[in-house]
Amino acid sequence: MPGIDDFDGKTALITGGADGIGAALAQAFQAEGAKVFVSDIHEENLKATAQRLGCPSALCDVADADAVEAVVEQAWNELGSVDLVCANAGVALFGSILETPREEFDFCFGVNVHGVVHTVRAQARKLRETGRTGTFLLTGSEHSLSLPAYLRPVPMHVYTMTKHSVLAIGEGLRAELGPEGHGVSVLCPGPVTSGLAENSTSARPDSLGDPPNLDMSKMEPKAIEALMTAYLPSEKAAAIALRGLRAGAFVIPTHAFQKDDVDARYQEMVAGFDLIE
Ligand SMILES: NC(=O)c1ccc[n+]([C@@H]2O[C@H](COP(=O)([O-])OP(=O)(O)OC[C@H]3O[C@@H](n4cnc5c(N)ncnc54)[C@H](O)[C@@H]3O)[C@@H](O)[C@H]2O)c1
Repeated sequence: MPGIDDFDGKTALITGGADGIGAALAQAFQAEGAKVFVSDIHEENLKATAQRLGCPSALCDVADADAVEAVVEQAWNELGSVDLVCANAGVALFGSILETPREEFDFCFGVNVHGVVHTVRAQARKLRETGRTGTFLLTGSEHSLSLPAYLRPVPMHVYTMTKHSVLAIGEGLRAELGPEGHGVSVLCPGPVTSGLAENSTSARPDSLGDPPNLDMSKMEPKAIEALMTAYLPSEKAAAIALRGLRAGAFVIPTHAFQKDDVDARYQEMVAGFDLIE
């Protein structure tokens, strides 16, 4: 896949751009000479980030397909085009497969999966209408590549399901749009310092009540220590994303230790083939 040689003069729309990785991506693109448009569901953070970056912005819930269509249209109008869309908005959710209520699944899938689909559909339609080529950066997670070993005692399995879906969306999109010259990358961050916990709570519909708690007591103290020391600043994660986009990488991980989980999964899959007679 061709990478982005030069961000100067490019235009980018970032969903979930009010905080954390999204805001850091917007800032990094801007620093390279790109024009950016940020959207988010969090009004206060969005205002503050748009003001800090001096860029256009719009409130948008990515779970709402019509709202995403409108925001993509607005970004094209204000920037003149959108070369790069970052489907980055996401929410974290703690909870097991066996016990998580259906409403929580729907909330998490609504943002993390349907939100990405809404964003890429609206952008692909605009690119096809205008005959331009573009790049899609989807924010997945280390949870797109495996169930990270250190997090196994802390059920985040619904979140893991959604982030595996983001990788699958990326694969499907690459098959559909690659032949037309568009680029697709999936950013797969490990732990990154951001507002994910608070923002995921504030993005919850009132009807859901309080989020399920993170129960760290089941984690080995060593694993907790490893997790706490692994956190990258969001600016560093954004810098890695830009390096991946330049290289035209499909999967962009942020932490070397993710490879252990990927290797373990691959070996387990390959071992299954040994059973075929
Ligand atoms: N922080 C991490 O450790 C980490 C690790 C792996 C993946 N990620 C992923 O990175 C992405 C960015 O998260 P972050 O860590 O920067 O957290 P963050 O909370 O700082 O940023 C996410 C943004 O998405 C917004 N958002 C939430 N629901 C939305 C909705 N329905 N519509 C529009 N915007 C919505 C939030 O308001 C927030 O500004 C997410 O997809 C997250 O799953 C984060």
